[in-house]
Amino acid sequence: MRIVQITDLHLDLEERTPHGIDVWENARWAVATARDARPDLVVVSGDLALHYGSPELYAALPPLFAGLGCDYLLLPGNHDDRSAFGAAFGRRYALREDTPWLDRQVDAGGVPMLLLDSSAGRLEERQLAWVDAVLTARTAAAARGAGPPGVLVWIHHPVLTGFHRYMDGAYPLQNADAVRAVLTRHRRALSIELFCGHYHCEDSRVDGIRQHTTPSTYMQIDPEPEEFRVLPGGPAIRIVDVDTAGAVETVVVYRDERFD
Ligand SMILES: [Fe+2]
Repeated sequence: MRIVQITDLHLDLEERTPHGIDVWENARWAVATARDARPDLVVVSGDLALHYGSPELYAALPPLFAGLGCDYLLLPGNHDDRSAFGAAFGRRYALREDTPWLDRQVDAGGVPMLLLDSSAGRLEERQLAWVDAVLTARTAAAARGAGPPGVLVWIHHPVLTGFHRYMDGAYPLQNADAVRAVLTRHRRALSIELFCGHYHCEDSRVDGIRQHTTPSTYMQIDPEPEEFRVLPGGPAIRIVDVDTAGAVETVVVYRDERFD
């Protein structure tokens, strides 16, 4: 099973070259590079929009994503408008009145996945209770041999913080500790590999869960200083390979690198 992650496209219909960067060209590079990796699935993990999501912007994206040549799943980021996803991307993004977020449990070719909607900058208590229940059920299923003892979690915001002074200070997941507590509660029974974006840099770290932060297709942000500073590099995408036992191998591919 091969999954490609694309994140933080930051597209806009009017402001097409923010900071002098052609974000649409970068998005086309990401789509073409993803397609060349022959994935089974692509996950676009939020911040499709530069500043604010709109029905007009989202309506322009299915033709772009059609170039992937495979199914794709979308997550909203803090710059997106989840209520506008359904009209552009189909019924699976329709919001229910009683659960107005885009959390989804997905079986991707035998790989259990959770997509979590952190576009409000936090996960609500009811979202966390749902995650806890799903992971408890996964644990029971794995114990009776129904599926691998692991889950891939996709979320826009990093849950393990402490590696980016600017983003940790300015735009962290507000209740990251609570989210982390729910996920790590299941760490003895399940291996959890979490994939995120939002921080506009590449990082991997382990603390109860294994977290992979993927660079943006727009610009990268220097993790060292407390103030905003652009870091050269990118655009990039992430390739994630999962074997039948659920073991994960992953690599970030930057433009101008070759990948076989
Ligand atoms: Fe973001």
